[in-house]
Amino acid sequence: MKKLYKSLSLLILLLSLGALLACGKNTPADKDVGKDAVISEGASKEEISDKEKAGEDEAGPTDESKGTGDKNQPADGDKIASDEAAGKDAAGEEETAENIRDISAAELVSEIKIGWNLGNTLDATGGAGIGSETSWGNPFTTREMIDAVKEAGFNTLRLPTTWEKHLGPAPDYKIDKAWLERVRTIVDYGIENDMFVIINMHHEDWHFPSYDNYESAKAILTSVWAQIAQEFAGYDEHLIFEGMNEPRMKGTQFEWTGGNEEGRDVVNLLNADFVETIRNSGGNNAKRHLMIPTYAASSDPRTWNDFVIPEDDKLIISIHAYTPYNFALNKSGTSVWSLDNANDTREIDYLMENLYNNFVSQGHPVIIGEFGAMDKNNNLESRAAWSEYYVKKAKEKGIPCIWWDNGAFFGGGELFGLLDRRQLSWKYPEVVNALMKGLE
Ligand code: GLC
Repeated sequence: MKKLYKSLSLLILLLSLGALLACGKNTPADKDVGKDAVISEGASKEEISDKEKAGEDEAGPTDESKGTGDKNQPADGDKIASDEAAGKDAAGEEETAENIRDISAAELVSEIKIGWNLGNTLDATGGAGIGSETSWGNPFTTREMIDAVKEAGFNTLRLPTTWEKHLGPAPDYKIDKAWLERVRTIVDYGIENDMFVIINMHHEDWHFPSYDNYESAKAILTSVWAQIAQEFAGYDEHLIFEGMNEPRMKGTQFEWTGGNEEGRDVVNLLNADFVETIRNSGGNNAKRHLMIPTYAASSDPRTWNDFVIPEDDKLIISIHAYTPYNFALNKSGTSVWSLDNANDTREIDYLMENLYNNFVSQGHPVIIGEFGAMDKNNNLESRAAWSEYYVKKAKEKGIPCIWWDNGAFFGGGELFGLLDRRQLSWKYPEVVNALMKGLE
């Protein structure tokens, strides 16, 4: 009798397990099936090539790029993929907020290997409408570009995005629908590649961190983030929000010198406002991982003393570090960096140790959201050696890094380009290989 009872309970258990699996709509496996179906659909690929062609000829805000719409509209395939990624079913209804892993920030950060910034693109501030994407000389972003980034070994995509010029008037600050959709299309290129994707607020003059400007900055920040959070509410933990880029008192003596007490205080307030807004915005946003910068995302430990980290177990500290500055970013600095020169390696060691001691070891994971060494007269050997060492040292401390690639290869600007987005080839494979080697 006891035996029969046992077999019956086992049967019931098996039956209910089967039923559970059969209706598991949100399992990653199901999402993958949908995704593959979309990617293998010829029509949507052709549509994307057309978009790419359109972008190829555009070095600036030509008439064509001024938001005429059509060529920039997502193909049907893109739309379906978007809905999939957003956790909406065929009828467009929001699914419940269960398709996100409830993991700690440290756990999530440990899954990030190395990332790539789509720089000078969605953050560009020229042009009009969605044409701003190409206003700094980069072509329209295509799925193939992001595929190439993934294929090279980057598992994270940071999308610096400027919202300022795509907002309606106060008090709603409604984001232009076409812009939001364009951002979403590119987010999906990353998500469908199983990458982590970070979106932020990049060149926003409205968030000047002073007491006088605080109420106005808070109104815009909370309203715009609430809209973004709603748009992406169904996305899982692969999508990360970064509240601000390098919030700082632009154009003042405090811009790059660690700020003053007031500036750092207002950055703290805005970070807290950002976290509260996202946590209250529904869907998966209660469990989403969020990045908050220090003043100017500064890597100078002196700016960290009065940095306030809100109580929340899914926060990641965002730091930018083009270190050593004279080699990596300063055009009138040096083009030489050598592993054998202790003066060259010391600054990187110091940076990683400080980040570890101040944040990581205290339970606050860090992502270096921007780093890179610009090309200086083809100083490839130094750049490769630097890249490998930087990534290696960061990895030892559990800190993933995201290369700043602004698509620039010549001229007098900051030459951080690695991927030739028009040719879909790596202009400096030596640097990419060195970055990957640093991870080994
Ligand atoms: C900042 C700026 C970006 C610049 C980079 C390197 O992120 O926003 O435009 O290129 O730093 O200087």
